[in-house]
Amino acid sequence: MKHEDIDKIFKNKEQFLDSIVTLCGWVRTVRNSRGICFIELNDGTCLKGIQLVVDEKNCPDYEIAVRQNVGAALKVSGVVVNSYKNKEIPEINITSVEVLGVSSQEYPLQKKRHTLEFLRTIAHLRARTNTFNAVFRVRSVLSIAIHRFFQERGFVYVHTPILTGSDCEGAGEMFRVTTLDPSKPVLQSESSRDYYADDFFGKKAGLTVSGQLEGETMAMALGKIYTFGPTFRAENSNTARHAAEFWQIEPEIAFSELPDLIELATDMIKYIISDVLKNCPEEMKFFEQHYEKGLLEKLKLIVDQDFAVLEYTDAIKLLKESKVEFEYPVEWGADLQTEHERYITEKVFNKPVFVINYPIELKSFYMKQNPDGKTVAATDLLLPGVGEIIGGSQREDDFDKLERRMKDLKMTIQDYWWYLDLRKYGSAPHSGFGLGLERILLYITGIGNIRDVALYPRTKGNLEF
Ligand code: 4AD
Ligand code: MG
Repeated sequence: MKHEDIDKIFKNKEQFLDSIVTLCGWVRTVRNSRGICFIELNDGTCLKGIQLVVDEKNCPDYEIAVRQNVGAALKVSGVVVNSYKNKEIPEINITSVEVLGVSSQEYPLQKKRHTLEFLRTIAHLRARTNTFNAVFRVRSVLSIAIHRFFQERGFVYVHTPILTGSDCEGAGEMFRVTTLDPSKPVLQSESSRDYYADDFFGKKAGLTVSGQLEGETMAMALGKIYTFGPTFRAENSNTARHAAEFWQIEPEIAFSELPDLIELATDMIKYIISDVLKNCPEEMKFFEQHYEKGLLEKLKLIVDQDFAVLEYTDAIKLLKESKVEFEYPVEWGADLQTEHERYITEKVFNKPVFVINYPIELKSFYMKQNPDGKTVAATDLLLPGVGEIIGGSQREDDFDKLERRMKDLKMTIQDYWWYLDLRKYGSAPHSGFGLGLERILLYITGIGNIRDVALYPRTKGNLEF
């Protein structure tokens, strides 16, 4: 269907002035006043709708136009003119209206503004609102910015498998994948290899929680790689930051140590935020107006600011000295809870903070053990308002230390023989991190809940769409 994008008309008004254009889109509002029907038409190419002026004196389809409901799909033609009310804005004097698809009075998006909670119940329609138009455009631009950042630096984009036999994080959050007959009695011991012998893969399989382990094998061949794909966690935590399916970006770099990783993560965050600010000005203005006052200022500051680096041990000290009554006790060895992370980023530093060198017991088996015997060379990047958006570490490259740690954790070593092989053949210091796409999107848009930055969010008990 030949037609112009509404965005193009707004951006090149002078070029289109006095010419006839054809537009396709959906009715946002319709109102009738003394023989003139005003329709706001939106085609999704930008947040704004364009005003169509259907005058019964000039348009034989006037009667058709006035009968339309909000949500109807139209193909219209008309002359581009300066708006009667505001000369800066174009509007269209319509000469023909063709109805592509009618709508009805039951169309759920009647009001200008609905609550995000209500819109979740009609997730198949919510992309038609300005909020979700802006969210999904920023998500798209952000994704490409991430790719561009790594591509410009010579990283190879790797597609790691989604079906996997290894639980990278070992947190017991892996969704199981099976073709076993559910009516067959389940054996007592699920870890028994016999139980899964008849299963599709002949062993226990699941949806990946992280592409890291496979990514490491590629980094040890190609030097610098990154993954960018969906990861899955049977997260029971019902929070505004956790989803069962989320997209993760995981760079892995051979011949790199923790400080190199922190430098890379800092550069990446600054790069992608600058890119979104530059390429999504309308959307970002919208978020500033409707979701977070001061958002643009906050993001501009991030780009210019140094990020803080804080030892876990010093974080504990800070929290203890704060005299704040935290719900969760602060002790060396205890995990930092959201309230602690927020205190550190929002109250103490008011900027992004890399917390480094966590106690070994808190972190995954693969992390580089520090000489103190108590901590690992890990880092979490915490952002004000959102908390952890990146988790990463230098990897344990010493075969014996890694194997010992896996045994201590009672992991099935034979399942990871290929991962251990990396430490046998040309082992080298290497590091990587995982960035949660939805988490950084929350930070960039000022939206408060992960359910509102994913197309069809997967959380416990929710699989409607
Ligand atoms: O800290 P995590 O668990 O680290 C890993 O998975 C490592 N294998 C990454 C690596 O070193 N290659 O997760 C990384 C990031 C978190 O910081 C967070 O942003 C996001 O993934 N994330 C989630 N996002 C949404 N919902 C969840 N349930 C998430 N769990 C982690
Ligand atoms: Mg983490």
